Amino acid sequence: MKRESVESASVELSVRIPSPGGDLMLSHPVLPASGTFGYGEEFEPFLPPGTFSAIVPKSISVESRPGNPPPRAIETPSGLLNSIGLQNPGLDLFVSDYLPRLQRYGVPILVNVVGKNIEDYCTVVEALEGQELIRGYELNVSCPNVKEGLRFGLDPEATAALISAVREKTSGVLMAKLTPNVTDIAEHAVAAQSAGADAISLINTVRAMSVDWRQGRSRIGTDTGGLSGPAIRPIALRMAWEACQAVDIPVCAIGGISSAEHILEFVSVGASLVQVGTHLYREPTCLPEILRELQELLAKEGICHLDELRGTFGGLSDRLPGRSRPVP
Ligand SMILES: Cc1cc2nc3c(=O)[nH]c(=O)nc-3n(C[C@H](O)[C@H](O)[C@H](O)COP(=O)(O)O)c2cc1C
Repeated sequence: MKRESVESASVELSVRIPSPGGDLMLSHPVLPASGTFGYGEEFEPFLPPGTFSAIVPKSISVESRPGNPPPRAIETPSGLLNSIGLQNPGLDLFVSDYLPRLQRYGVPILVNVVGKNIEDYCTVVEALEGQELIRGYELNVSCPNVKEGLRFGLDPEATAALISAVREKTSGVLMAKLTPNVTDIAEHAVAAQSAGADAISLINTVRAMSVDWRQGRSRIGTDTGGLSGPAIRPIALRMAWEACQAVDIPVCAIGGISSAEHILEFVSVGASLVQVGTHLYREPTCLPEILRELQELLAKEGICHLDELRGTFGGLSDRLPGRSRPVP
């Protein structure tokens, strides 16, 4: 039944993420995707502070990392192929130099953490506990561009062991960032939830390659890289849908999102949040326009709150919220 339209200003976009330490309330569901927003500094001239409802900085590891050899990113016809390789300043420099700049945005920070082993992840989380505006962590178990990047992401038991260990170190929001490079995403999502994750984010980049056949070599410095952007949105949508049916914690969808229409597709299959990544390179100032469009589209359909749309695809609405379905 068609609903009466409502005033776009009255459309409520806020999102709640429950965690053991309390609810994290976000003003709207759009976050930057890790690695595409750096540590915020390049974006400061373009985006008024607080435009994103929370910030997810580039992955941080205990030690600094130089990343992979160049070239590290190339465009493909419908996406970006990158092999940055988790370049980052390391924990100490992050705390002393980068975090204060991120804190200037004045919104919650969900630190994306990466490590070679469980202790690494725990060390980073323990060191960051109590820092102003750090309200949680996104555990990256899904980087396809470094040797150990998928060690925890390809095996649900390893994912669960990592999350259980980190859970003991924090009561903040714990989000597990899953890889699309698996056959059964639901199994991984359930493992993450069972181990204590408060939310799931997906997808990281899809392993891919681009070859110069004349030279007989890859167009990036490593043989393979990770594909992002428009090409992977249908994959992300399918995986978000499968994960949303399997768990009853919030799912944060990532992959080729660049418009309000895209966000509503993901919300309709059950996503609570989204991250915008590769599109930020093309349009660093896109967010205010996306949010305005989001409110207008919902208002036109007479939808006052995103929750009314969430999970409505395929009759999923009668199973949400909080009514997870056993994984077949
Ligand atoms: C250049 C680049 C660097 C990235 N670095 C990271 C990273 O450090 N940590 C991480 O979890 N994901 C990283 N990602 C993956 C993104 O966060 C995101 O999951 C992926 O790009 C899909 O979203 P998109 O299609 O909107 O870009 C990176 C992606 C790109 C394109």
